[in-house]
Amino acid sequence: MLQDKDRVFTNLYGFEDWHLAGARARGDWDNTKALLDKGREWIIEEMKASGLRGRGGAGFSAGLKWSFMPKTVGERPHYLLINADEGEPGTCKDRDIMRFDPHKLIEGCLVAGYAINAHVAYIYIRGEFVQEAIHLQTAIDEAYEAGLLGDNACGTGWKMDVYVHRGAGAYVCGEETALIQSLEGKKGQPRLKPPFPAGAGLYGCPSTVNNVETIANAPTILRRGASWYTSLGRENNHGTKIFCISGHVNQPCNVEEEMGIPLRELIEKHAGGVRGGWDNLLAVIPGGASVPLLPAALCADARMDYDGLRELRSGLGSGAVIVMDRSTDLVAAIARLSRFFAHESCGQCTPCREGTPWISKMMARMVTGDAEPGEIDVLEDVTRRMEGRTICALADAAAWPVQGLIRHFRPELERRIAARKDAPSSSAAAQ
Ligand SMILES: Cc1cc2nc3c(=O)[nH]c(=O)nc-3n(C[C@H](O)[C@H](O)[C@H](O)COP(=O)(O)O)c2cc1C
Ligand code: SF4
Repeated sequence: MLQDKDRVFTNLYGFEDWHLAGARARGDWDNTKALLDKGREWIIEEMKASGLRGRGGAGFSAGLKWSFMPKTVGERPHYLLINADEGEPGTCKDRDIMRFDPHKLIEGCLVAGYAINAHVAYIYIRGEFVQEAIHLQTAIDEAYEAGLLGDNACGTGWKMDVYVHRGAGAYVCGEETALIQSLEGKKGQPRLKPPFPAGAGLYGCPSTVNNVETIANAPTILRRGASWYTSLGRENNHGTKIFCISGHVNQPCNVEEEMGIPLRELIEKHAGGVRGGWDNLLAVIPGGASVPLLPAALCADARMDYDGLRELRSGLGSGAVIVMDRSTDLVAAIARLSRFFAHESCGQCTPCREGTPWISKMMARMVTGDAEPGEIDVLEDVTRRMEGRTICALADAAAWPVQGLIRHFRPELERRIAARKDAPSSSAAAQ
């Protein structure tokens, strides 16, 4: 289990003061100037060496992403964009960082902004996060007041401004290019890549988009060193992660743990175990609504990191662990997610615009068994024709939970279809 001394997020539950004084007492903003004095190259190399992978879902190396930004500033300014949209169902970690540890994120903005030559950071926050936005703005004001941000941030001579921008609550606006469009005041629809944001992002200027948890990790990693971070977790899967454990557990919670912790240990140590005991477990969605579920038989030893879950044909995603016990109507649960993705599709790509409602309607019929047995293959085929063929990964996110259901629970779908066929029709029963 992760030891307290290795925790990055030491006020995750809000037991302590989240204002500047409390943050400083926990070590934030501790001689940030010394970090910046080591130079951009050192910061980027140290971040690369730490192995920190983006915590927003895709798991791309943070240091490598920063290194893609142009080394010198040309005519176009550079921007740092923080993704605080957090729309993935089951995910509720970034909001707690912003509520209870906002200075960690703001200090991260300065460090990352300096590393990529950006004088401005925009934090794009989900509109519904009212309290989080207030805490964030208050903390930003405190940082300006103390000279930690502004024309001479932390006495480094570097000008750094941080703005909070409130979104209007569309899941797709969490996709990085849709976020950029929305920030520009346009309809929040993803853009085709390339060009990637590092080449042409906000207002066509070089931009880096990172998740809240990713950026909030940066100052601690730089202070304690890449070798400390790599001492946690395993090769290619280093460090700690905030897991959001919800569903049929006795104590749903957010918890920071070492990457690679076995799923059963995570649930039993931190969430009070599965409701009714481990044997009552039916399935777990281990990384937010868009990854395939794992049946109970695969859950006990599943390693909660990128490679461990990929080996089981699922994914770590955003680290949201949705636990479902045997009382769950799993087909209905996945059908509900399909409805969500159909609702959130922005409609630009035909496979997503047409495929997500098609999946949703078929899944609704699978719930009652109102289908032909061959339609299970049709359903799977539709998902296969969507994935990898669209502008953004929302179509993949819609496809994968359904594929997971068919892979692991096909007999349940067949049982429902057979039961429906065997049931006397309502008119026959009335005669
Ligand atoms: C439909 C969709 C929604 C997304 N929503 C979020 C989100 O709410 N927060 C987030 O950090 N990343 C989200 N992402 C991933 C972002 O596109 C991007 O990969 C991420 O912000 C990069 O940050 P990271 O490298 O620090 O993880 C979403 C992606 C897709 C396709
Ligand atoms: S995949 Fe879906 S959400 Fe993404 S751009 Fe295409 S239509 Fe829009």
